[in-house]
Amino acid sequence: MGDYHEPAEFIDKKHRDYVRALNSLKEEVEAVDWYNQRVAASDNEELKAIMAHNRDEEIEHAAMTLEWLRRHMDGWDEQLRTYLFTNGPITEIEEGEEEEDGSGDGATIGDMK
Ligand SMILES: [Fe+2]
Repeated sequence: MGDYHEPAEFIDKKHRDYVRALNSLKEEVEAVDWYNQRVAASDNEELKAIMAHNRDEEIEHAAMTLEWLRRHMDGWDEQLRTYLFTNGPITEIEEGEEEEDGSGDGATIGDMK
């Protein structure tokens, strides 16, 4: 299959599921882009509404897949907790995390719990 960049026999069962999820996320995000472009380009209101509905479904699919990755693959949970649902300049969040050393005074929802 075309999903692997290394010989498939070296990819164990757990990592094959990561490949499945990561490729699914790529495909869902690509679908969001394609539907969104069709909404922007069409002047047929009925077709635009269908394409917008489909785009929003793809966003849901992407979110579900991202959540699976957060629960199962190392790295996602930490980064999503750092960056999602925050306010202010995104590029300054990491600096703030390092300065505060995750002590609970940060801007993330996770820190406020
Ligand atoms: Fe989808």
